[in-house]
Amino acid sequence: MSTASDDLTGRTAIVTGASKGIGRSIAELFAARGANVVLGARSAPLLGDVAAGIAERGGGAVEVEVDVMAEDAPGRLVAAAVDAFGGVDILVNNAGGNSFMTPLATMRFSGWRKTLDLNLDSIVRLIQEALPHLVASGHGVIVNVSSVTALRGSPLMAHYGAAKAALVSLTQSLAIETAGDGIRVNALVPGWIATDLTGFLRTDETVESHVLDRVPMRRWGTPDEIAQGALFLASDASSFMTGQSLVLDGGLSAQP
Ligand SMILES: NC(=O)c1ccc[n+]([C@@H]2O[C@H](COP(=O)([O-])OP(=O)(O)OC[C@H]3O[C@@H](n4cnc5c(N)ncnc54)[C@H](OP(=O)(O)O)[C@@H]3O)[C@@H](O)[C@H]2O)c1
Repeated sequence: MSTASDDLTGRTAIVTGASKGIGRSIAELFAARGANVVLGARSAPLLGDVAAGIAERGGGAVEVEVDVMAEDAPGRLVAAAVDAFGGVDILVNNAGGNSFMTPLATMRFSGWRKTLDLNLDSIVRLIQEALPHLVASGHGVIVNVSSVTALRGSPLMAHYGAAKAALVSLTQSLAIETAGDGIRVNALVPGWIATDLTGFLRTDETVESHVLDRVPMRRWGTPDEIAQGALFLASDASSFMTGQSLVLDGGLSAQP
């Protein structure tokens, strides 16, 4: 059900990592609320499926096949939004993830750098490219997808946790710097969500129980549940909120 305050009609959102998982759910929900969406990711076939589904339901979507770490990625994503829809009102920095677990002591620095590049540096560059358009929007919004790994120690994932924690700090700083331009910047902080990223934790019952035993609600979150949080942050429903983190984690981070 839509309420007036979460209506996104007439707004344009760039959603990175929109080919699957959390980003796909966010893009589909935003489109269902009336937004035009620019879908960024590397997999053209998956992006095509998402865009076709949105178009079938009467929404506006364009796909940009892009690696967010590529130098020309910010320019291509923003140009697609401006060319197709005339501007950018909402930027959801969702593309990210972690491809390895290892102690920091023996971590290859190249792995550290790649993780920071994907989960932090690429976002900084896209924000810088999109900011003039978000200022022009008059109600610009940035949603940065962080992680509960940002909130506490993440053994074997220091690289990922550090990047996601930096994103929370960046969110706070940028919120203060841009509030005068009418821009709101918030972080969305998911706990354990059932997507391809966490699929390896569901292949073995013992490993899965170990994960879920630490979650008070004893289940995985769904991408659609996270998308609801993104809609709140991107819409006028959160009009007096900036520089904050919205944690959706089944109670994980509430524990001592
Ligand atoms: N799942 C969880 O438990 C969880 C928890 C906390 C935070 N998060 C965060 O939530 C975000 C989404 O994760 P998810 O669980 O939905 O993961 P996912 O299912 O693996 O989806 C990741 C998305 O990011 C895209 N992507 C990855 N690398 C990219 C690159 N270099 N350039 C462009 N797109 C790229 C992928 O598309 P292509 O492969 O097509 O490029 C895909 O659309 C990530 O930032 C992740 O860190 C997830």
